[in-house]
Amino acid sequence: MALSLSLSFKKNQAPPPSPAAAAAIPDDGPNSLYPPMPACPLACDAARPPPGLTVPFDTKHATGSDDLPLSDALLSAPSPSAGPGPRAAAPEQVKVQLAVDGGVVVSWVTGEAAVGRASGLRRQLEASKPPPPSVVQFGSSPETLDRDATAPSDPLVVPGSPDGGADGAVDGLLPPGGGNSKTKGGSGSGGGGSGRPSSPLPPQPRRYLQSYPSHQAGRGTHSYLSGWNHHVLLRSPSQITPGERVYYRVGSGPEADEEGGGGWSEVRSFVAPPRSAAAVAAEARARARGGAKDQKGEAAAAAATPSSSPFPLMLSFIGDLGTTENSTSTLRHVAATGKGGGEAGAEPDGEPPSAALFVVGDLVYADNYAPDGGPRDFTRRGENATFQPRWDAWGRMVSALGFAELPVAAIVGNHDVEADGEGNRAYKSFLSRFEQAAAGIDASSSSTASSSPASSSPASSSSSSSSSSSPSAAPPVSLEDPTLWVKDIGPARVVGLNTYAPYHPGSTQKRWLERALRIPPEVRNSTTPWLVVLMHAPWYTSYATHYREVECMRASLEPMFARAGVDVVVSGHVHAYERTSRVLDHSPSPCGPVHITIGDGGNAERLYTTFADGWGVPEAKRARACPSKRSGDECAAKAPGPYCYSEQPPWSAFREPSFGHGTLAFESAEKATWRWHRNQDGERVVSDEFAILRGAATCAGFVDGGE
Ligand SMILES: [Fe+2]
Repeated sequence: MALSLSLSFKKNQAPPPSPAAAAAIPDDGPNSLYPPMPACPLACDAARPPPGLTVPFDTKHATGSDDLPLSDALLSAPSPSAGPGPRAAAPEQVKVQLAVDGGVVVSWVTGEAAVGRASGLRRQLEASKPPPPSVVQFGSSPETLDRDATAPSDPLVVPGSPDGGADGAVDGLLPPGGGNSKTKGGSGSGGGGSGRPSSPLPPQPRRYLQSYPSHQAGRGTHSYLSGWNHHVLLRSPSQITPGERVYYRVGSGPEADEEGGGGWSEVRSFVAPPRSAAAVAAEARARARGGAKDQKGEAAAAAATPSSSPFPLMLSFIGDLGTTENSTSTLRHVAATGKGGGEAGAEPDGEPPSAALFVVGDLVYADNYAPDGGPRDFTRRGENATFQPRWDAWGRMVSALGFAELPVAAIVGNHDVEADGEGNRAYKSFLSRFEQAAAGIDASSSSTASSSPASSSPASSSSSSSSSSSPSAAPPVSLEDPTLWVKDIGPARVVGLNTYAPYHPGSTQKRWLERALRIPPEVRNSTTPWLVVLMHAPWYTSYATHYREVECMRASLEPMFARAGVDVVVSGHVHAYERTSRVLDHSPSPCGPVHITIGDGGNAERLYTTFADGWGVPEAKRARACPSKRSGDECAAKAPGPYCYSEQPPWSAFREPSFGHGTLAFESAEKATWRWHRNQDGERVVSDEFAILRGAATCAGFVDGGE
């Protein structure tokens, strides 16, 4: 159950730095991978957190389970229904993605995917006819689906990247009729660009061909042609209203098309997420200034006026999900969040349901399979294989267990890279199924992103093509690397990073992050106090596996986190749970974020149960527990403090190898509560609960529990 150590150190000894003071901290050198860490201006930096707590793995539990077979009811394709045409398969893999400022993108797949020879699939793709239009019918009850929305298309414009954006096309994705499959290659984070102010969205719907040209010998030919991926944007508040339940179905009507798509999905529902509190406040200010000149504008402004506090806001987090029994258990527990009571140790009654679910990478683990679906041979170097039907199976599972009813946003992990043997077209599956460009449209706009209302909102100002009016803001999605994004939801900004994209000085990611973290002081102090960052591989983990794996990323980017005042970092990758105190540069510090690792949503690779400090190992053997430094790991060598610890590191507050998910409840501008919901072998228990404090209470950030 929840831990309440109630220890505090020099509580409220000094106020936090003002945003202006934080901004005055000197920037790092422009070309250094090891920029200097800003000095923490808080006088309480000598404080130390209480000793960390380790909950060892209970051997009566299993460390994991295998992937469910593709024949499992949750993973298998729906049976074709009787109907017109050759095959009237209903839309499947339905999910709702969190877009900008209260909007959502509804996504689904139609048609049949195929596995076979690349040449044959190419011909099939080029000969395929586009399916009927993508339509979402929605309304306020299952019986009243009286509104329609269609796919974003040419009239919609994605905001230009201040970094000099590429065009809106996503590498390797194919529009109806085949289109140009030529890719730009690389990790999706290539630099350069024309600096065009805006770009059209990729054509909708799209399908993609995943080929494996470099490792066919001895394995046959098993490339993959996807079904049609559909994405439709619902804007807020013009189409959906925050807090109201929206009932919807997707498809294109009763007619089946020649490719096998058609018909309607069953009716599902979701609660429209909150808009950015900053955007709502800015609109209210504009109205007060008389900005709304006509009756229509008055109505829109009235609709945007906050009727209540943006608190509480509940968000859920999962990582490293996969398709096992543990995965399904995690998803069922996420869906139960906010419904109170239930099994012993479940979250307290009265908590709000989650407004959104964030996934911190390693979604499917399709790359653990050879292209023919057999087990991967990890000894074969250079084999960049994946078995893409696993993505479809995962899509069915998550749709059935929550993604169709809770807006989601995802970042990529190492298992989502999926280089295709030519070393390019990375993230093709992810970017086809999670429409980043559409999710980056300013959903509050009534027409195009370029006409978004003027405001000081990080979201709306950043999504405007007139970003010169707010040069400190980032675009909602980087057009140079669409795996990088910002979501402003209620009183929080959530920034999604990519551990596997370059992070060195001058890189797309570092330049984009600089803007993503720079919230105008007046916005941070009034409407957007909370700043959360997601990345796949953790900077702070004390487990032996993946220990200090991304130390160079930490060295390059962590000073920016300190200057920006990031509150929470949520990571995956390490298949276990761990929470730190606020930490900076390998030492507890009130000026650093709390880092939380949740890389154990249920995947088949098993839990990690050993610690780099040798916890639980006989004293005489502990020295051998610490993983060796990677050869030439310059960053690990330069890191301050010890590389190996003989006990739980001082910044590690709580760790336990278990499956589960996390929730973060923003209760006020000063306090949020993090909970780790363990679901070991299906048992639903809150095993870690922690108050994250900021603002005037920042120096009390070392209070554990506090209740
Ligand atoms: Fe990973």
